[in-house]
Amino acid sequence: MAVLGIVGSPRKGKRTDKLVEAALQGVRSAGMAARKVYLIDYDIRPFCGSGGSDDAFGLGPRDLSAMCGEAEALIIGAPVYWGDINGLTKDFMDTVQTPDSNGKPALGVAIAGGSGKGLLSGVQSIYHFFYHRQMRGIDPTPVSRFNMEEALAGLMHSGARLAEAARQRERFPGVGREERWPEVLAHYTTLDYLDDGPLEEFLMLAEQLLELSADGRGKADLDMVDRARIEFEEALDALEAGRTEDAARHAVGCYQILYF
Ligand SMILES: Cc1cc2nc3c(=O)[nH]c(=O)nc-3n(C[C@H](O)[C@H](O)[C@H](O)COP(=O)(O)O)c2cc1C
Repeated sequence: MAVLGIVGSPRKGKRTDKLVEAALQGVRSAGMAARKVYLIDYDIRPFCGSGGSDDAFGLGPRDLSAMCGEAEALIIGAPVYWGDINGLTKDFMDTVQTPDSNGKPALGVAIAGGSGKGLLSGVQSIYHFFYHRQMRGIDPTPVSRFNMEEALAGLMHSGARLAEAARQRERFPGVGREERWPEVLAHYTTLDYLDDGPLEEFLMLAEQLLELSADGRGKADLDMVDRARIEFEEALDALEAGRTEDAARHAVGCYQILYF
């Protein structure tokens, strides 16, 4: 029994690697074996054929597909480039074969390590992959520079939960892919962040910056934190009143006061 951790960043030892490693530590702490691979070590190419997904499967490195098939659960970590997962991770997803993926537990983490923008759209892309392969996604983990410490701690727990889910793997019921969609879709409606858009993303980043700055971990002084908090509260009020355009302006306002 082993969980496979997949690092989608070409940079070994950097943020994506550290986040995947934290989840793998959680897996090991729950008594399950864990293994890590780096996509950059494989010959992964974009699908440039004229056929469909069956043709694309043939393109992925066979040993990588075999490892994904044998793994009891998967962890995918990807860096965010321009608001989405990087091309290497996407090309892997397009071409990898994942035999016996029904209900396989899966955990995804996306790190938007610059402005933070794209942390939600990035993690959503990873869960689109899990959903379409009918895996059982758990704990979507969006990460920026501002919540990195909290995310590392959270991933230890998620890794342990993943190991537990792997031990008691729950396949989606139904004969064949089509019959399974009602339960697959029902499961994905229960996960956090998958329905959020850019406004929720800015609110999330603003909240992360507020927390960090209030703890003295940011660059802002107390006056800036107070001004930012007012912007944040105005964003929430506007959102509640259905004034989404105002909510957007105030959410960005809070973020811009505290950004470093
Ligand atoms: C081409 C490119 C585009 C990027 N776009 C974004 C972005 O949209 N949002 C963001 O927060 N960071 C962005 N970044 C920064 C990366 O997310 C950041 O460097 C991250 O730490 C990369 O993961 P790694 O450290 O594991 O390599 C971008 C980096 C590159 C190279």
